[in-house]
Amino acid sequence: MGGEDGKSILLIVVVVLISAAAAVVESAIGVNWGTIAVHKLPPSTVVDLLRENNIQKVKLFDADPAVLSALMGSGIEVMVGIPNDMLAAVGSSPSAADLWVAHNLTRYMVNGGVNIKYVAVGNEPFLASYSGQFQSYVVPAVTNVQQSLTKANLGGAVKLVVPCNADAYESSLPSQGAFRPELTQIMTQLVSLLNSNGSPFVVNIYPFLSLYGNSDFPQDYAFFEGTAHPVVDGPNVYYNAFDGNLDTLVAALSKLGYSQMPIVIGEVGWPTDGATSANLTAARAFNQGLIYHVLGNKGTPLRPGMPPIDVYLFSLFDEGGKSILPGDFERHWGIFSFDGQLKYPLDLGNGQLKNARGVPYLPYRWCILNPNKDLSAVSNHIRLACSLADCTRLNYGGSCNGIGEKANISYAFNSYYQLQKQNPQSCDFDGLGLVTFLDPSVGECRFLVGVTDNNNSSGFSLQTKWPLTLIIIISWGVWLFLST
Ligand SMILES: *[C@@H]1O[C@H](CO)[C@@H](O)[C@H](O)[C@H]1NC(C)=O
Ligand SMILES: *[C@@H]1O[C@H](CO)[C@@H](O)[C@H](O)[C@H]1NC(C)=O
Ligand SMILES: *[C@@H]1O[C@H](CO)[C@@H](O)[C@H](O)[C@H]1NC(C)=O
Ligand SMILES: *[C@@H]1O[C@H](CO)[C@@H](O)[C@H](O)[C@H]1NC(C)=O
Ligand SMILES: *[C@@H]1O[C@H](CO)[C@@H](O)[C@H](O)[C@H]1NC(C)=O
Repeated sequence: MGGEDGKSILLIVVVVLISAAAAVVESAIGVNWGTIAVHKLPPSTVVDLLRENNIQKVKLFDADPAVLSALMGSGIEVMVGIPNDMLAAVGSSPSAADLWVAHNLTRYMVNGGVNIKYVAVGNEPFLASYSGQFQSYVVPAVTNVQQSLTKANLGGAVKLVVPCNADAYESSLPSQGAFRPELTQIMTQLVSLLNSNGSPFVVNIYPFLSLYGNSDFPQDYAFFEGTAHPVVDGPNVYYNAFDGNLDTLVAALSKLGYSQMPIVIGEVGWPTDGATSANLTAARAFNQGLIYHVLGNKGTPLRPGMPPIDVYLFSLFDEGGKSILPGDFERHWGIFSFDGQLKYPLDLGNGQLKNARGVPYLPYRWCILNPNKDLSAVSNHIRLACSLADCTRLNYGGSCNGIGEKANISYAFNSYYQLQKQNPQSCDFDGLGLVTFLDPSVGECRFLVGVTDNNNSSGFSLQTKWPLTLIIIISWGVWLFLST
């Protein structure tokens, strides 16, 4: 045996070890990056956060140029979206589809550009609460955009998908799963179209909503730690709602003849505030349980060893501007707070997540109630403040419920003041407000300091320094006046 052989064996071993390590790092867990936030971080800070944490897949709900520019050159795999309200236009006009592709895809799919892998055509367009208003546009929109992709030579690189809410199918037992009867025809066409383009089926699954909306739902069945209420379905036994739901979809797809169609989880997660079952402990247990469950590659009873190909957690950040029609929890789905701070320890499969760095906070100051004032006129101010700013934490089930009446008022004042980027007038409230430099947070209830999405600190430092400058000039004037 020559030394050369030994060296080449060593080399092979090293190469195998390195590729094994690379395979372990490659994670199928991505995140949804929604931007209906009232406090937005600069997109470049968010992309740094994703890279720092080795999050390699991100799902967007539109094609925001600021976000896509920040993702350029990052290598992060991206899903962009065509919002539901564009489906009619794109579905009825091939040239509108061409324009969308030219403007929102081709432009970014260049060397050193954005690694766009999926386009979501609509977002949950079959949601029952939309009463069918989008459903007839979906197949025409997919058809047109697919043709535009082919024309633009992007048909191989980019796959079209239609993220569906799990309410598109139903059944009490997974093996009996079927799409809602009024969707059967559309789904038959859509799934055939997706399949012929090599696209997966994308579904959003929310055991939290099952638990929240149904007092009979066994709580332990929503999580991944075993249950006293397994669902027995012939030879198959389900120990968690996620697997049961997924197999209901598998059965529904099988009924249409696509039992092998790959599945992507477009959204899944657990909120941390705004309902009693929405808290840090539960969110951590659910998300960490889910991640280890998926990465364990066990699959489900109907698809053993075949877990979903990608899973996108919902969500990266809290979005304080979302409608609370579904419930106060809607603004609290983030694994990170709006300012990129991790809410609870979480491992996406390659180590514990880390906080965002270089967050451009506004100055550390808060707006609170001046306690020495007459409070008779305060309720109108609170109503106005909370109609624009997010006060959902104050409500029953929220982390700021029970902090007391005065702290309640201060919380509302501060939320509004930060929303207004600490504009001094926004802490007036007819003389009831007071700016403080002492953090008024109460226990778990954090009084936030806003962030700026402007990557450019001169914007707010001017604002901070301006009153000070004014005071200095005035004092100097007064001194001059008095001393002459
Ligand atoms: C590109 O996407 C953006 C954001 O989703 C949208 O507002 C715009 O209308 C799209 N452009 C075209 C030409 O469709
Ligand atoms: C957190 O949520 C879980 C279930 O979702 C619930 O069992 C638990 O009581 C909640 N914890 C608190 C402190 O409310
Ligand atoms: C604080 O505000 C919340 C939401 O408006 C309300 O439910 C709660 O009763 C208030 N608490 C006090 C002490 O006023
Ligand atoms: C914005 O900030 C990020 C990091 O915080 C930096 O990488 C980037 O170059 C900045 N962009 C501009 C235009 O200043
Ligand atoms: C920073 O913000 C100021 C004021 O908003 C603006 O005049 C300036 O052009 C900005 N600079 C950059 C590099 O964006």
